[in-house]
Amino acid sequence: MKTSPIIDAPTMPAWQRDGYEHIWMPYTQMQTAPLPVPVVETEGVYLILADGRRIIDGLASWWSACHGYRHPHIVDAVQRQLHTMPHVMFGGINHEPALRLASRLATLMPGDLNRVFFSDSGSVSVEVALKMAVQFWLNQGVQGKNKFVSFLHAYHGDTITAMSVCDPVNGMHSHFRGFLPQQFNVALPRDEESFTAFDQLLAGHSDEIAAVILEPLVQGAGGMRFHPPETVAHIRALCDRHRLLLIADEIATGFGRTGSMFACEQANVVPDIMCLSKALSGGTMGIAATIATDQVFEAFLSDNPAHALMHGPTYMANPLACAAAHASLDLFEREPRLQQALTIEAALAEQLASCRGLPGVVDVRAKGAVGVIQVESLRDLDWLRARFVEEGVWIRPFGDAIYITPPLVITEDELQTLCAAMVRVVGEWAGR
Ligand SMILES: Cc1ncc(COP(=O)(O)O)c(C=O)c1O
Repeated sequence: MKTSPIIDAPTMPAWQRDGYEHIWMPYTQMQTAPLPVPVVETEGVYLILADGRRIIDGLASWWSACHGYRHPHIVDAVQRQLHTMPHVMFGGINHEPALRLASRLATLMPGDLNRVFFSDSGSVSVEVALKMAVQFWLNQGVQGKNKFVSFLHAYHGDTITAMSVCDPVNGMHSHFRGFLPQQFNVALPRDEESFTAFDQLLAGHSDEIAAVILEPLVQGAGGMRFHPPETVAHIRALCDRHRLLLIADEIATGFGRTGSMFACEQANVVPDIMCLSKALSGGTMGIAATIATDQVFEAFLSDNPAHALMHGPTYMANPLACAAAHASLDLFEREPRLQQALTIEAALAEQLASCRGLPGVVDVRAKGAVGVIQVESLRDLDWLRARFVEEGVWIRPFGDAIYITPPLVITEDELQTLCAAMVRVVGEWAGR
């Protein structure tokens, strides 16, 4: 059996030495990748490593741990739920944690996004949204509207249809040509001219298109690009003009990340369908929600059983995850998370600014609790990742972005330590 050359690293804990022969890591070339960082505990904003080091998690575990790790209120809620009902199927059964969570989410949502379908991951919630959009038209007797418009630098997940609406390059469309459904993957319009071209595209294909899917304000894993609220509002208006649904993927932006509870609110936009996950459970358990307006839901009401939404993951509405989500929402009610995101934005803008102008740095930007240093090309990636750990922070650059999305509860001092390490390492990298 071929094994990775790094498997003999002497500092490996025994469980990693044995298990690494069998694990398959995400987004990883297993032959050449450096050894993953062994984490044994999490606490607040810290990852605690097998050798005892505590490093600041600059990513909040892929945007999810908005209250930091092991918040006592969430731990307590999950523990209580564990003793009553850790899981039960959701087909034909209801339970209080899920129904109360659906009501609570509907109250939080802008407009009449009132109907909540639960699933277990962000990608699946996107699959559900896409199916919902296609069936919305079919149920009303409109045939042929089964394609989607999505944007370059978008990321909507790793399942097949979710991949088809991701950026074609980052989303590896060339690998899967013939297997992935073909969509309209176009540049996000940014000015009058590109909006006119976008309008023409929608006009020319509105009989084929079910919906436009967009990450409002911040495109995440597909490139960490930002756009203003006006762009979201303009896209909403064009969807209305051409009778298309708008799906807002707020899996990354939802729950305060951009400074408002949901990014759509800054644009005063109500999408037809919204996807949520990640920080929904405060980074505790896998749970996602696809939330539809009354109009979308009503298209599924009929005396025809085939007009029902045909989806139902085994672990949908998992009670433990619902309990974590309730506790997380309690914390949003009790503590000033949105203000914290805005404070983080100001600190990031100030503390990362010195990287502007470094050789190889293209742009430095911050939106809410998202800070990005965009570079020409991300050379020496393994070196960069290792240096960040040596400096006591967890930052994982990818594509052309060195970015942070820290827990919203990070203190001023912790954020200063995180930014200082980022600036120091990027400075060294630029000078190499
Ligand atoms: C905007 C967006 N959509 C969808 C997903 C997919 O979510 P998951 O990884 O839970 O499948 C992600 C994950 O990073 C995301 O950021």
